[in-house]
Parts: sequence; structure tokens; C-alpha cells
Amino acid sequence: MKAQSKIWMDGKLVPWDEAKIHVLTHGLHYGMAIFEGIRAFWTPEGAAIFRLREHIERFMNSAKIYRMDLGFSAKEIEKACMEVVRNNPAKECYIRPIAFTGYGEMGLNPLTSKISVAIGSWEWGAYLGDTSKKGVRATVSSWVRVDSRAMPVQAKCSANYANSALAKMEALAAGYDEAILLNTHGVVAEGPGENIFRVKDEILSTPPASSGILRGITRDTVIQFARDLKFKFYRNDATKEELYTSDEIFFSGTAAGIAKVREIDGRRIGYDGTPFTDKIARLYDQAVHGKAKRYSKWLTPVGA
Ligand SMILES: Cc1ncc(COP(=O)(O)O)c(C=O)c1O
Repeated sequence: MKAQSKIWMDGKLVPWDEAKIHVLTHGLHYGMAIFEGIRAFWTPEGAAIFRLREHIERFMNSAKIYRMDLGFSAKEIEKACMEVVRNNPAKECYIRPIAFTGYGEMGLNPLTSKISVAIGSWEWGAYLGDTSKKGVRATVSSWVRVDSRAMPVQAKCSANYANSALAKMEALAAGYDEAILLNTHGVVAEGPGENIFRVKDEILSTPPASSGILRGITRDTVIQFARDLKFKFYRNDATKEELYTSDEIFFSGTAAGIAKVREIDGRRIGYDGTPFTDKIARLYDQAVHGKAKRYSKWLTPVGA
């Protein structure tokens, strides 16, 4: 990670190297942290944040689920994200708001801890690398996606990502780029940090929210594109073998963007080209860079 200049911490910008916390911070020990992953892109209007309102809405909802009183309104956190981009050198960047139970009290009752809120940003290329040409090699994980009866999957809580990290490490150790997790019912849920879409017989589909996925904002963007492009689209469950026999598969996520999958567990995907994925990926690239007027409402310029 290339150091930037400033991090926003509890209401003010502090120098990058001074944005530190104590090792006995409660959230570090018990996973009590909720966060977001947002991106700013360079557009004809300068740097702009993509779907900022929706990301902060999800952040506030994650806080609500975990009974965290952030002490800042959604508007204040949106403004802080803009301030972070404005005050750092990388204008095309990944933005990471995080709220966590702070230093002072230990024990499993998090309600006695003060909540800290911080926002950092850094330059981050496509999370799964430049897959636009090659495509991602994925494997179905032996780890099952955390069940929403055990952990609220709609809350973007750090603790959920231990499950993601296990799947990711397993995939990498087996020589793949990424994992695909099934849920406790044995049907496809999502990637460790991405949602998943498939195309079969010219129909685009993605698992429903009830399959225990994080309701991705990129997923929502793709669904709106599918409507505008007049694709046939369904939210439905898919089995592992339905993945293997798909015509096209792609991941969607703020970090990964639209990432084409070219192989799952040794089965090649997209023999006959990937026209649906390519159209969605092109439109996504235009929308985030302010080159598709219809979607400019999703961009918040950060100002000079
Ligand atoms: C588990 C999981 N699923 C899906 C996504 C995709 O969500 P989004 O498109 O909002 O980045 C993410 C990323 O935040 C994630 O961590």
C-alpha cells in the first residue's frame, strides 16, 4: 500500500503515520468493526465517488444492526469521504470507512466501548488483477458461507471476513485466483468479497438476497444495467453444476469491478465468447468514469 497524506479519524484529518490505535482496542479482539469499500474515479468533472450515498446507507445499516452509535450522521460521513479524497494525492482510489469498538473496556459486551470512526483511502487497482483479457480461475470452496442465522450477512462486519479469508486462502493454495462459496443449503452464495452473476441461454441471473449474500452495490448497478440493456434477468439460486455449465460467469464488487470468470474447478467457462459480460463491463467502466450521462446521478464529485 502506498502511503497517502491524511486519514480522517473521529472528526478530523490526521497525518497518515499518526492514524494509530492501541493494541488493546476492543474491536481488534472481538471483531466488532463494521466497514465499507467505496471507490472514487477520475471523471470529466474531476474526482468523483461512485454511489457514495448507497455505500454510506449500508454503513449506517451495518452500525444499526450491531447497535453502534457512530456519533456522526450519514451526511457527515459522506462529507468526510469527500474530504479524504480531496486531501490525498490518489484521486482514483479505494475509500475505507470503518467504525469499531475502541480502547478502554474489554469483554464480550461491546456496548460499554466507545465507538471510533475512521476513513482512509489508497490507490488500489482491480482487486483480482487485470482480468478483462484473461479472466479469473475460480474454485468452489469447501468453506460454507456464514449463515445469516449465525451472523447478519447484510452487515459488513469485519468478523464475517474471517470466513472470506479462509475461502480465499484455500483457493490460492490450490492454485486458483478466487473462491466461490455455497450457502448452508448447498447453493451458490457469493465470492469472498464479490457477488456472482451467470449467463445461461441468454438469461442473466444472480442469487437472491435470501441466499445469504451481501447485497452488493455493484450487484445493484449490474441489475439496473441489465434492465436498461433489456437483458432477460432473474434472481435465482444456482447449484455448483449449474455454475460449471454456465455460458458466462462474472464477479461484481467495488474492489473487483466486473471480473470475468474463465474457469471453475477445471471447467472452462465462456467457450463462445462473453458478450453479456463484455457489455456490462463496458457500461460499468463508462458509468464510473462519468462517460454515461444516464448514470451520472451515481457520481458525487469531491470538489477541488
Ligand atoms: C462478501 C461480499 N459480497 C459482495 C460484495 C460486493 O459488494 P459491493 O458491490 O457493494 O462492493 C462485497 C464487497 O463489499 C463483499 O465483501
